[in-house]
Amino acid sequence: MSEQPVIQIRNLRKTFTMGKQKVHALAGVDLDIAPGSLTVIMGPSGSGKSTLLYLLGGLDRPTSGTIQVNGRYLDQMDENDLGLFRRKSVGFIFQSFNLIPSMTAMQNVIFPMRFTGVSNKERQKQAARMLSQVGLAKRALHRPTELSGGQQQRVAVARALVNNPPIILADEPTGNLDTTSGFGIMKLLSKLNLEGRTVIVVTHDMRMCQFASNIIYLLDGLTVSEAEYEAASHFEIPEEEPEEV
Ligand SMILES: Nc1ncnc2c1ncn2[C@@H]1O[C@H](COP(=O)(O)OP(=O)(O)O)[C@@H](O)[C@H]1O
Ligand SMILES: [Mg+2]
Repeated sequence: MSEQPVIQIRNLRKTFTMGKQKVHALAGVDLDIAPGSLTVIMGPSGSGKSTLLYLLGGLDRPTSGTIQVNGRYLDQMDENDLGLFRRKSVGFIFQSFNLIPSMTAMQNVIFPMRFTGVSNKERQKQAARMLSQVGLAKRALHRPTELSGGQQQRVAVARALVNNPPIILADEPTGNLDTTSGFGIMKLLSKLNLEGRTVIVVTHDMRMCQFASNIIYLLDGLTVSEAEYEAASHFEIPEEEPEEV
């Protein structure tokens, strides 16, 4: 990689302790992400994809290892700096949209601007611009229940963009959507990438790969090669099997 990576992850570990049991959700991940790239992260359920994305987004802290974003170490930031990082540097998109049900689309998009010192008028203008960018200018006053799944996710994308973060993180953003609106969200993420943002998407949908500059495979909290991933997938338990609770 000739260009300096925007994200550098070294020996990243996250261990959850459940009673006497330890779960190594990330077991020593090394990863470089180039600026302006679109990375797809693939992996079976429980392989550590969400954990990796949460750590990258500053939503949780690693057990050990380092995460450098634009030359700054997330693992060394205090809560204030990490809060600022979450608001300014990354936009997070969740599988379940996570919109606030009592708020309109517009109010949801404005929400992340609440600590930014931007004037009320400017917030409205900015949010309206974001909503029109995702094709929802006419839905600004609708509440989440008055929108389709695909529209709700587009509101969530607008919300992720409103503070103009250089990095977009999306955790199975099409997982709750039908095939067509799912593809709409993929194209939207690709557009944001082509505009210069670094995008990292966790997904099971192979259609995302056509937009990807690189694909990362995760198994049991570790990155593996495509060949190792393919070989292991033959032994995977079918998705239909109910999960043990
Ligand atoms: N907050 C948590 N407490 C305990 N275990 C967790 C927690 N979050 C994730 N895990 C465990 O860590 C592993 C990886 O989880 P996750 O990152 O959510 O995987 P994925 O997103 O690939 O499905 C799983 O075994 C999961 O049960
Ligand atoms: Mg997950």
